[in-house]
Amino acid sequence: MSASNPVFAHVYKRLAASMERHGGEAHRRRLLAGLSGRVLEVGAAHGINLRYYPDTVTEVVAVEPERHLRADAERAAAAAPMPVDVRDGIAERLPLDDDAVDAAVVSLVLCSVVDPDAAARELARVLRPGGELRVYEHVRSRDPRRARLQERFDVVWPHVAAGCHSSRDTVATLRHAGFEVEELSRFRFPPGRVFVPTSPHVLGHARLVG
Ligand SMILES: C[S@@+](CC[C@H](N)C(=O)[O-])C[C@H]1O[C@@H](n2cnc3c(N)ncnc32)[C@H](O)[C@@H]1O
Repeated sequence: MSASNPVFAHVYKRLAASMERHGGEAHRRRLLAGLSGRVLEVGAAHGINLRYYPDTVTEVVAVEPERHLRADAERAAAAAPMPVDVRDGIAERLPLDDDAVDAAVVSLVLCSVVDPDAAARELARVLRPGGELRVYEHVRSRDPRRARLQERFDVVWPHVAAGCHSSRDTVATLRHAGFEVEELSRFRFPPGRVFVPTSPHVLGHARLVG
C-alpha cells in the first residue's frame, strides 16, 4: 500500500507553500472552520492542514500513502494541538471501520486517486450517519470548451504530476456515491485572465443522503 515518490514529495511541499502564501491559506481555513469531533483527512500529504483545524476537533486521522510525506506528517502531528493518528493507506481502501468518524476532509486529493468512485464510496462507509464531508478540490470546468481542453491536458498531466487529473467532475462523483452537496463555492485558483487547466476549484461541504 505504501508508495514512494520522493521527487513529487519534494516538489509538492514547495508548490503547496507557495500556493498557501498566495491565497491557499484562506481556503484551507475556510475548509476546516467549524469542524468538531474525530475527523478523517484523506491524502494528508505532509500534514499541511493540521495547523488549521479548530480546537473543537478532538482527533485527526491522517491517511497518506506516500512515505516521505507521511514521515513529514508525523513530524507535523507531533506539533499539532490535537492528537493526530497518521496512517498508511489509500482512499479506495480506507484503514478505518464503518461509521468511524464524525467528519471527513478531502483537500486536493480526489484529482489524484486511481479510482474516485471507490474513494467516494469509502468516504460514505467510514462517515457516521449525518457526518459531514468537507471538500476542497480542483475540478472539471463547467464550460464545455474548457473541459475539452482539460481532457487534452490530461493525456500528459497525470504522468508528470503523480496521477493528478484536471478534468474530473468530482462533485458528480460525490453525488453518485450518495452525498448531498449543502454548500459549494466555485472559483478559479490561482485567479487570472489566462485559463490554467487545474484552476477551477470547489470548496464546500456535503452530507450523506438517507
Ligand atoms: C496534491 S496532494 C494534496 C495534499 C494535501 N491534501 C493538500 O491539501 O495539499 C495529493 C495527495 O494525495 C495523496 N494520494 C495520492 N493517491 C492517493 C490515494 N489513492 N489515496 C490517498 N491519498 C492519495 C498523495 O500522496 C498526496 O499526498
